[in-house]
Amino acid sequence: MINLFQPQMGAEELAAVSEVFEDQWLGHGPRTAAFESAFADHLGVGAEHVVFLNSGTAGLFLALESLGLRPGDEVVLPSPSFLAAANAVQLSGARPVFCDTDERTLNPALEHVEAAVTPRTRAVIALHYGGHPGDIVRIAGHCRERGITLIEDAACSVASRVDGRPVGTFGDLAMWSFDAMKVLVTGDGGMIYVKDPESAARIRRLAYHGLTRSSGLGYARVSARWWEMEVPEPGRRVIGNDLTAAIGAVQLRRLPGFVARRREIVALYDSELSTLEGVLTPPAPPAGHESTHYFYWIQLASGLRDRVARDLLNDGIYTTFRYAPLHKVPAYGHAGGELPGVERASERTLCLPLHPGLSDGDVRTVVSSLRRAVGAAARTPA
Ligand SMILES: Cc1ncc(COP(=O)(O)O)c(C=O)c1O
Repeated sequence: MINLFQPQMGAEELAAVSEVFEDQWLGHGPRTAAFESAFADHLGVGAEHVVFLNSGTAGLFLALESLGLRPGDEVVLPSPSFLAAANAVQLSGARPVFCDTDERTLNPALEHVEAAVTPRTRAVIALHYGGHPGDIVRIAGHCRERGITLIEDAACSVASRVDGRPVGTFGDLAMWSFDAMKVLVTGDGGMIYVKDPESAARIRRLAYHGLTRSSGLGYARVSARWWEMEVPEPGRRVIGNDLTAAIGAVQLRRLPGFVARRREIVALYDSELSTLEGVLTPPAPPAGHESTHYFYWIQLASGLRDRVARDLLNDGIYTTFRYAPLHKVPAYGHAGGELPGVERASERTLCLPLHPGLSDGDVRTVVSSLRRAVGAAARTPA
């Protein structure tokens, strides 16, 4: 089976984990602090602005919760988002309002966001589809002018930049996911970035029971009653730990290599598919935009996509479509009007296998299977 994604866990990650075993310190500790600090360096921000979490979803929930939203408030997000974003909005008490996207990039342009913004809009969640930075500079400018909080869902874009500036630092808050399918993997894990230092300190508390400080051994050295707690407001327990942080620190060092190999695979797909009629390859990011290349998505005539995906699966090649439109999901109240770009994209888009473990031969196998499947689907109308 040629898989869609595949984590890249190797000897360095194993060595880092075995050091944790030797120390027998598994919980939140020095390795978490080191990973947070390295990730903050990667973003070019201070370490106090980032918190390592047990998932990207926890980052979305904390971000929304920190805004103190009320019934009647609205949060705008692209319809092709991961469902955790809509869940986080819905469970915060606000209403998700899904906006349209460009049908080729699946990213919203500022105009799509503007069309969904109302006087009740408190926040916008911007996803960078497939790792390609979206229209983030203009969207960030608009949110600043209107006093709307901008949250970047940077789960797909851990290495993406616009004019050298890392994606995730354009908004007020951002989160990344390090789950098993992502480009940088810790098993499960996530990171949140919070621009405002006071909110960052609050979110750090909210991620760990609402406590102002650890009540552990470190505090015992400086306090007469180290077991006493200070809880200004209740919180959750969604922090990461030293075992996963140790893996994350290694993966972060390896990240440029992962992205470079992804870029080579994308170039190979692009050149192999350039002559395949009826298949559109992902639009090249505009000048100044650097992608993480998380997805390689093609677009086929509607009616062909599902049959092609099935044929590829029968050939041992796993493909999928991300992210199925959320404005169709009844649990989110069908919020949002006509979204023609999303409708068209969700009938035509297919994500092909993309991970650094693919050989050039694997890519050619995918392409020849795709060539066969597209030819067969085009010859036999559904
Ligand atoms: C765009 C996006 N946002 C958020 C998440 C949630 O991250 P996690 O799986 O770490 O909770 C995912 C996970 O697939 C995602 O793809």
